[in-house]
Amino acid sequence: MRPDDESRGMALKYLEISGGRPLFGEIQIQGSKNAALPILVSCILSEGTCRIENCPEIKDVEDTLQIMRELGCSTKRSGRTVYVNTSGISGWEIRATEASRIRSSVLFLGALLGRMGKAALPMPGGCAIGSRPVDLHQKALEQMGAVFRNGDQIQAECPLIQGGRIRLPFPSVGATENCLLACVLAKGESWIENPAREPEIDELCGFLNLRGARITRRADGSLRIQGVSRLEPGVWQIQADRIVAGTYLMAAACTGGSLCVSGCSRESLGAAAEVLRQMGAQVQNQEKRWAVAVRERLKGVPYIETRPYPEFPTDLQSPLMTALSVASGRSRIRETIFENRFSTAWELHKMGARIRVEGNLACIDGVRRLRGARIQAPDLRGGAALVLAGLQAEGITRIERTEYIERGYEDICRDLGSVGARIRVVQDAGG
Ligand code: EPZ
Repeated sequence: MRPDDESRGMALKYLEISGGRPLFGEIQIQGSKNAALPILVSCILSEGTCRIENCPEIKDVEDTLQIMRELGCSTKRSGRTVYVNTSGISGWEIRATEASRIRSSVLFLGALLGRMGKAALPMPGGCAIGSRPVDLHQKALEQMGAVFRNGDQIQAECPLIQGGRIRLPFPSVGATENCLLACVLAKGESWIENPAREPEIDELCGFLNLRGARITRRADGSLRIQGVSRLEPGVWQIQADRIVAGTYLMAAACTGGSLCVSGCSRESLGAAAEVLRQMGAQVQNQEKRWAVAVRERLKGVPYIETRPYPEFPTDLQSPLMTALSVASGRSRIRETIFENRFSTAWELHKMGARIRVEGNLACIDGVRRLRGARIQAPDLRGGAALVLAGLQAEGITRIERTEYIERGYEDICRDLGSVGARIRVVQDAGG
């Protein structure tokens, strides 16, 4: 317990993990956070009620729904099905504090410009894994006629979004999504060159096309959008979360055992599966079912770098760091997407990991066993990586700041507990 919390008698919630047990069984994977968020925001582009199925029950989704209610939409959740009725949308200005908490609030910029021709919202939030500017979003939307007003929040207007040719200098996921949301209702034709290729982008395009948009991805990866005058509401089932699935495959790499995860396509987990095979894990994939078997200590990977899809995803870099910290030999990971995404290393040090960070390169000398410790989640994926460390460690590990993990994992205790992990949430009433 941190001294200041103790003195104030604040309730403290943390995860408690008793390590050293291999994982056996199958985990049904939740809907994808990074598909659900842009899909929910895209509901603003049509009048009426959209139904989104397999929508994960996570904090970032709840925050997004709160922002939509503030805009005048009405939302309802029934289990994993979410209904969003946008008929009552009345405003184009977002003040909700949730908007400065999550990164995906920036997507309201493109959707509001597309629907209302105006948008005002705070700078987005998100995990502290880098500076996370929005310059690519602004430059791209300016190429479609949007005019931005400088200030401490994002303000833009564009009475009539013009189609046009946008070239992204970097295949930014969010900037690609914002361009799509802004130009599906534009006048004329738009092209997005060098867009992101993540599966979540194609899922957003699928939902928009189902509702009347006309988006095609050409062989060179660029996106062509023929503007239409209106979109209809629609029904969509969110795909399984490839990052959650990959996290759990890495868990088996840490603990040993035999784990199945279902719901992810071959392409979406291909790069992660390849690394696990390099480490010596047996990985089978049939349709959307992945099985990983780990019978002995895995080997390190001499060098790997994170890259845009379909290469190894930055969101699995922290879980991989944990797996490599208990693999044999020396491994090196270069993080090329975010400039500050090695915070997990400092917490792993407290558990006995041997990791040296030099700029965007982490050098890891594997140890046989980590030791339980009291640690704090530094961000969403780093928090999940520390859970994996606790599963492997000798003794008890206590992870605070679990709110980070709840932003993207529906119930990591439920999921890992169902395959043999000894993990529980502890509410400490404090002093
Ligand atoms: C999305 O973030 C995901 N978030 C991230 O997942 C993911 O790590 C990232 O894409 C990369 O795959 C959601 O989808 C909600 P980017 P986004 O724009 O859109 C720089 C998770 O754990 N950049 O592709 O913010 C940026 O700083 C989260 O689920 C600019 O410089 O990522 C970063 O270095 C974490 N200017 C790089 O590009 C801009 O205007 C990639 O960013 C935009 C981005």
